[in-house]
Amino acid sequence: AHLWRGVIHEYRDRLPSLEGAPVVTLGEGGTPLIHAEVLSEVVGAQVWVKYEGLNPTGSFKDRGMTTAISAAARSGARAVICASTGNTSASAAAYATKAGMACGVLVPEGKIAMGKLSQAIAHGARLLQVDGNFDDCLTLARKLAEAYPVELVNSVNPARIEGQKTAAFEVVDALGDAPDIHCLPVGNAGNITAYWRGYREYLAEGSLTGMPGPATRLPRMWGFQAEGAAPIVAGHPIDHPETIATAIRIGNPASWKQALEARDDSGGRIDAVSDAQILDAHRILAAREGIFVEPASAASVAGLLAAAEDGLVPAGATVVCTVTGHGLKDPAWALKDADGEPVLPVRVPVDAFTAASALGLE
Ligand code: F0G
Repeated sequence: AHLWRGVIHEYRDRLPSLEGAPVVTLGEGGTPLIHAEVLSEVVGAQVWVKYEGLNPTGSFKDRGMTTAISAAARSGARAVICASTGNTSASAAAYATKAGMACGVLVPEGKIAMGKLSQAIAHGARLLQVDGNFDDCLTLARKLAEAYPVELVNSVNPARIEGQKTAAFEVVDALGDAPDIHCLPVGNAGNITAYWRGYREYLAEGSLTGMPGPATRLPRMWGFQAEGAAPIVAGHPIDHPETIATAIRIGNPASWKQALEARDDSGGRIDAVSDAQILDAHRILAAREGIFVEPASAASVAGLLAAAEDGLVPAGATVVCTVTGHGLKDPAWALKDADGEPVLPVRVPVDAFTAASALGLE
């Protein structure tokens, strides 16, 4: 039986920058690519969902954290720091623990989901709630990393992008080639940068050797921001970003330029989706496909559904949507219906007839 060994071991020859680093891994990567029957039917295409919530700490960040923490360990770092809307801090805290390092995290006051907060605390990170938004946290984290002996593990750290590119490798390895379209949520824009690099590297391998590479083509990259936090769509930073998708509540993405490159070089697009569209997609994924994600993750599917309505999805195209984080990170949204009303469990006595009636069996 093949035991998945984490992205550094699995893609060792494609991660040359990790040469000589001790491997700090929790077995990340190797996540399922799930064929989505309902979405395929609705969109008129072959839709696949890359379920990144199944990584060790429940988000795609683990792919970049194994590489960032391994590189930090190689350079002798004793402590790491990051700014985060929640998932990066959960991942950094877990991988720092695994490496025996201290971890400091800066999060925006009151704007991170409970699941993520509890992860950072459970893993023993020093957690600072900053009186500001994510962009302020990142500015602060950069300053601290410049002035003190702590390694910054946000996606501005090149090792992060290296690790995260492995998700594109897995998609191609599973489908046999790149899809026509790849949809994903965009926040700080590290992930769209990483996928685009992964796809290009798999294609380029072919031309280097004269043999066909693992991929023979490139997808169009479709990124989606939340309407109230859509600086790339607006073309200027947003001072006070707002969205229920707290993971992507970001007004000035660090990898802005790289996101534009991915969009333009792939013939893709970056668009905005409303919170209502995000929650609709969140509900469809959970209730129709059996895939539970946090709201920000559903932005990829929300964007695909909107594009399909606008006639932008070619019939029969192969489309991959990355869903970035697990639903248990921020479960409160599942307890509301489409109108925002609380969904309450039906209370019954210990009585078979009443229970059967309540279940609609009677
Ligand atoms: N989806 C989730 C669940 C995220 O946590 C993030 C980013 C994104 C999408 C966007 O990815 O930033 O690479 O464009 N979360 C960061 C964090 C900002 O701090 O956890 P991106």
